[in-house]
Amino acid sequence: MPENTATVDSFSDMPDLEKKVLAVLSAFESSRRLEASGEYVFPDGRRVRPTVEGIKSFLSDGATLEAKKTATSLRQLLKIGLVMKRADCYFLSDVGKKLGRKCRKERMSKGYDNLLSRTETSKAYSMFCQRVFGKDLSQYNVLDMEQLNTLIEKLELKPSEVALDLGCGNGRITEYISDLTGAKMVGLDFAPEVIKRAQQRTVDKKDRLTYVVGDMDDLSFQEQSFDAIISIDTLYFVENIDATIEKLRSLLKPINGRLAIFYGQSCDPDESRDVLLPQSSKVGAALSNNGLAYETVDYTASSRGIWIREIEAAEELKELFAKEGNADIYEDRAQDAKRTLEKIENGRQVRYFYLAKLKK
Ligand SMILES: C[S@@+](CC[C@H](N)C(=O)[O-])C[C@H]1O[C@@H](n2cnc3c(N)ncnc32)[C@H](O)[C@@H]1O
Repeated sequence: MPENTATVDSFSDMPDLEKKVLAVLSAFESSRRLEASGEYVFPDGRRVRPTVEGIKSFLSDGATLEAKKTATSLRQLLKIGLVMKRADCYFLSDVGKKLGRKCRKERMSKGYDNLLSRTETSKAYSMFCQRVFGKDLSQYNVLDMEQLNTLIEKLELKPSEVALDLGCGNGRITEYISDLTGAKMVGLDFAPEVIKRAQQRTVDKKDRLTYVVGDMDDLSFQEQSFDAIISIDTLYFVENIDATIEKLRSLLKPINGRLAIFYGQSCDPDESRDVLLPQSSKVGAALSNNGLAYETVDYTASSRGIWIREIEAAEELKELFAKEGNADIYEDRAQDAKRTLEKIENGRQVRYFYLAKLKK
């Protein structure tokens, strides 16, 4: 195929490895690029140049892919204009960027389908949540009962109101909030199997609970549909946080609409810690840019305790996780907790609750 003839429609018949390579290049582009070294820096501290070897090291789905196959895929992607090459580094073209985002999303939603279906049925994970958060709601976040109670108190949801839980995962937090307040809740997530199970689990609460498959980057609700919107550890995944907040604002009712967000943010050693102040943080800035006044609660100190409990509980339950065939869940939680705790100790990680309210 001649150069630049690829379109977003080329996606469906693309070989799987090429989709994976596009997804990896798209993940690179969403992280920070260091000008001098040409490396991308990931939130977990990994650094990588977008070379054949760098790309191959990110194809981490258990397949031991040879560099040769990766190079062949890249050549093919170059030929159809989805990828560009500078020296030994590869970058996405404009169409490549669109397709790369699509591939990355598809892989992420499959990943969450797989992961969350296992956490929901795992005895070890249930014990983990009980120990770390104070209650098993199959949370995949950093939200303990203190934070969840603050959310519920501050939102003051009434049975006559409707709230959206953005990226609800298995929707047990959504269900818990509705059970306590009587409010109607809509849980949205892009992982279809997760949503299907939430619908089946709550079939007798259909008058209050609706679960829908949807993409946070492409929300199709009518304007002014919700009294409140909550996002618990989900805005990390949106393409453009300013545009997402603008959209969420439009979905809120203008009188007493509330937007509640839990978000953790870190900075690199070479960045100023000022980026972590509430007003200059990513969410704070996006709320201000959209003309929304907000209050914040700083949960950095208490989240330190949560991360410590995560490390301890993961270690205690390690064998049970392994026996269930869920060793990767243990690894994921333990590693994430250790990395984040180190950042907190170095003053390079914060966690805030943001609450913005439209006119009373
Ligand atoms: C860290 S989990 C948090 C889940 C849940 N809110 C909780 O607190 O337990 C992030 C969730 O966001 C969902 N997600 C990620 N990107 C999304 C997108 N573009 N649209 C909809 N859901 C998305 C994932 O499927 C996952 O369930």
